[in-house]
Amino acid sequence: MAKKIIVGNWKMNPKSAREANDISEKIFRGARKLKNISAVICPPAPFISLIKGVLGAQDVFYEKDGAYTGGISAEMLKSLSVRYVIVGHSERRSAGDTNDIVNKKLKVVLNAKMAPILCVGELTRDHHGQYFHFVRDQIRQALKNVSKNIVHKIILAYEPLWAIGKNAKGVLPGEEALHMNIFIRKVIADIAGATTAKKIKVLYGGSVDAKNAKKFISAGKMDGLLVGRESLNPKNFLEIIKNADAV
Ligand code: PGA
Repeated sequence: MAKKIIVGNWKMNPKSAREANDISEKIFRGARKLKNISAVICPPAPFISLIKGVLGAQDVFYEKDGAYTGGISAEMLKSLSVRYVIVGHSERRSAGDTNDIVNKKLKVVLNAKMAPILCVGELTRDHHGQYFHFVRDQIRQALKNVSKNIVHKIILAYEPLWAIGKNAKGVLPGEEALHMNIFIRKVIADIAGATTAKKIKVLYGGSVDAKNAKKFISAGKMDGLLVGRESLNPKNFLEIIKNADAV
């Protein structure tokens, strides 16, 4: 059985390098004992080189190099042994990342031989299922001009915006996670074929905690989780990991 990927997205936390070290050490020490899980931490960029463990980045800039003050390239991340890069997170999208920019970022990550974690998800739900179309368009546009042979390297993260963060309006029921999981694979099948659609990993994110983690993996048949707030608390994050490992 393929390992479940549990990704911690620390966002703009914690405040210091020492805390980042502390939290990550505790997490990886606990996670190493579990056979069915691969734990990944996406710290803020200044802490990446300090952390020993499987690393992801929260964002990337799509240009190779040059006069782009503040930019961080895919090659730079690769040189720090980063394996995963989140692209299209809703917080980056609301800071200006269009589908076109997400597409460019996805491509530089693939070119640098890292795995993009492509975040998609609707802002609100409607009764007519328009949100499915919204997610389909986000995927199609992010994958524009990506060679079919490498689509299986992309990890999809379904994060309904209304379920993210401390102002979340609710938690997604397990069977609805399954519906979206199946739908995402259908969209991928149309783009890159049925074999890729079967192979690709789909994660769930949005207010994941120790209590609901199991539900997304078992009822939602997700290949892993993208965890925000709870990934900064080693005890809670390890609890999520353990619960996912036990499914
Ligand atoms: P949350 O964040 O777990 O705090 O809801 C998830 C995310 O934004 O990736």
